[in-house]
Amino acid sequence: MAEAAVLVTRELVPDAMRALDGRCKLDLYVGPPEAIPRDELLRRAAGKDGLLTILTERVDGELLDAAGPQLKIVANHAVGYDNVDLAECTSRGVLVTNTPEVLTESTADLAWALILASVRRVAEGDRLIRTRTPWVWGPQMMLGHDLYGRTLGIVGCGRIGRAVARRGIGFGMRVIYTDVVRLPDEVEREAQAEWCEWEQLLDESDVVSVHVPLTPETRHLIDAEVLRRMKSTAVLVNTARGPIVDEAALAEALRAGEIFAAGLDVYEREPQVTEALLDLDNVTLLPHLGSATEETRAAMGLLAVENLMAGLSGQRPRCLLNPDALSG
Ligand code: DGY
Repeated sequence: MAEAAVLVTRELVPDAMRALDGRCKLDLYVGPPEAIPRDELLRRAAGKDGLLTILTERVDGELLDAAGPQLKIVANHAVGYDNVDLAECTSRGVLVTNTPEVLTESTADLAWALILASVRRVAEGDRLIRTRTPWVWGPQMMLGHDLYGRTLGIVGCGRIGRAVARRGIGFGMRVIYTDVVRLPDEVEREAQAEWCEWEQLLDESDVVSVHVPLTPETRHLIDAEVLRRMKSTAVLVNTARGPIVDEAALAEALRAGEIFAAGLDVYEREPQVTEALLDLDNVTLLPHLGSATEETRAAMGLLAVENLMAGLSGQRPRCLLNPDALSG
């Protein structure tokens, strides 16, 4: 059999690039550093048997048309796959995979970095020092809020939500969660998290941390009305997907003091950030670093390559998202 032709749309970490060595006819997009331009993506996808994509690439009917009918698999290098039109891939018998589990703990750590930064004004303090602003210790200087004994509200209690919840117990917090389905009793017990309705979570949480996937139902789940309902002392953290939060509404709520602070790792129009947020001191902004550790990115890259190779060789990939594509 001829060597499979593969397009990798961004250079992966060295371990993962080595795992591709000699196993396919590789076409690698190496830059400039921003995402592969759409027209170049369409051109270079033509005739490929596999695509290894990252979350900046839209995988839709147009891309599948450009690739051609020999395309077997799209291996997405992310746990989230809102950039992929799964139904379209399934209808054409194209397998789609993601990289779950390997990034759970690192993403939960980063959510906690944002929780702590938000409640204790960490980035604001750093800015104060760096801008050489004169300061002297004082009983009322830069007060934040305690976490101990307060309530952590998890929105979406999948793997990452549960890992964030576990860390909350370590901080002495009460943990509540809401999700479309309630966790089985034993999982709830292990996570020490109580299920509650959405409105109750908003009313009672001192920290609201978002961990749902982006779907038509979750777009702007956090809007002006939700922000008004939250406690004025509460913080909001989003490490899931940007469009889940209405950024303009968030900027206004932060400006008006409707909530205390926010921490964002993801943006509605990523990589752009709503201008009004940039001038606010009570929001901590990170450039989508949730899974950005050497260990996790190596694991994600290796898993994406493993999925890709399985799909190319006619095996069922470990992280297959659309088993129906196999029966097409
Ligand atoms: C994902 O995997 O979905 C993250 O957003 C990037 O690691």
